[in-house]
Amino acid sequence: MEKFVIRGGNKLKGKVRISGAKNGVLAMMPATILCPGVFTLRNVPNLRDVWTMSRLLNDMGIYSELNGDELFIDSRNIHSFEAPYEHVKKMRASFYVLGPLVGRFGKAKVSLPGGCAWGPRPVDLHLKGLEKLGAEISIEGGYVIAKANKLIGTRIHLDVPSVGATGNIMMAAVLAKGTTIISNAAIEPEITALAKFLIKMGAKIHGVGTNILEIEGVETLNQTNEVVIPDRIEAGTMLIAGAITEGTVTIEGCNPYHITSVISKMEEAGCNFEIHEDKVTVQIDGPPKPVDITTAVYPGFPTDMQSQWVAFMLKANGVSKITETIYPDRFKHIPELQRLGAQIEMSDNTAIVYGGKKLSGATVMGSDLRGSAALVLGALIAEGTTEVLRIYHIDRGYESIDRKLRALGADIERVPTDEF
Ligand code: UD1
Repeated sequence: MEKFVIRGGNKLKGKVRISGAKNGVLAMMPATILCPGVFTLRNVPNLRDVWTMSRLLNDMGIYSELNGDELFIDSRNIHSFEAPYEHVKKMRASFYVLGPLVGRFGKAKVSLPGGCAWGPRPVDLHLKGLEKLGAEISIEGGYVIAKANKLIGTRIHLDVPSVGATGNIMMAAVLAKGTTIISNAAIEPEITALAKFLIKMGAKIHGVGTNILEIEGVETLNQTNEVVIPDRIEAGTMLIAGAITEGTVTIEGCNPYHITSVISKMEEAGCNFEIHEDKVTVQIDGPPKPVDITTAVYPGFPTDMQSQWVAFMLKANGVSKITETIYPDRFKHIPELQRLGAQIEMSDNTAIVYGGKKLSGATVMGSDLRGSAALVLGALIAEGTTEVLRIYHIDRGYESIDRKLRALGADIERVPTDEF
């Protein structure tokens, strides 16, 4: 096990390169199930979740190898159609193999993901969509068993614009007979990027980037190469790391359009920005102003930035309200931030942050990916030393966050620990 030891108080200064999007590559890797071939994905982040997906695909016969930021994938020898609990319990994105397996092979056995650290995360919309396409779905022993002869295009309206359900149904529909229309589809950049990847593979998808996707099924797809889009959540986290320490930070290799909601809220809080095509500089004079946010689907304020915003508002002189509408229980970071001295009250799905109080170093424990990022941000402004335990959560989704923050001037070390 490893932990971070962070001595707070340093202003961050300098440039940091943003890695490829975790949620982008985790959707693209399973898409290679859809056709036998060799693929190269570039700008791939070196993350635990990418390793987990590689292992899962490897068990199915898909060989992959990460060299630098290039991921080579060979999907010519698929021999298993199963995603075991062992992988799915580590990472819900494993569920993405369901759509492509049913679409290409007409069979799949995929473990149900169950809940996660911040509450229930259903997959009913994924299953309803596949059933509408003609798959026979049953649940046996904690597994989804799906069978189909040939999927048939249909109309699918999603009750909520689920990212995962949109991706899974889209991947199943590209090889279906006839046309599928997904309405109220997710428009998160990672879904748009997945659609573009599928189009490069030969899929016919119209309405990409909108919430109505029209997919004309094709007989076969072909191998291709693709570049993964930048990680908008890492980008937002690094901007907040700069602003929370009252430093000046430039993020490079990002897509500013994907983080407009975060940038505009940071502007309201008093941050100044210089925005170029693929880089953004943030600077702030003094502490931020308190600003309320409510999480929403894209292009609203991302739920994956909610916990970081809570940390940011600890620095503001005044009271702010952070309301979570996507995952109402996603507040595991609050009690840990309180251990640093944060004054936060909960009222249903709203955190009321009384900012501007002094934080002091303590031992805290991460229990999910973005919540752990909030603990690191809190530690950067706490007086004294903070130890953040269970950093394997953060390693799931941030490539070398300690190295990147250190390069910006943070006093952060990764050290081995016996503590779990
Ligand atoms: C993806 C992201 C995750 C992000 C989330 C919301 C990946 C690998 N993960 O997760 O980082 O926090 O989007 O932006 O891309 N829902 C249902 N039924 C379903 C599916 C979802 O009711 O079948 C609900 C969920 O409970 C939640 C909402 O829809 O309230 C959004 O979830 P969804 O967009 O599906 O999130 P994920 O794809 O799991």
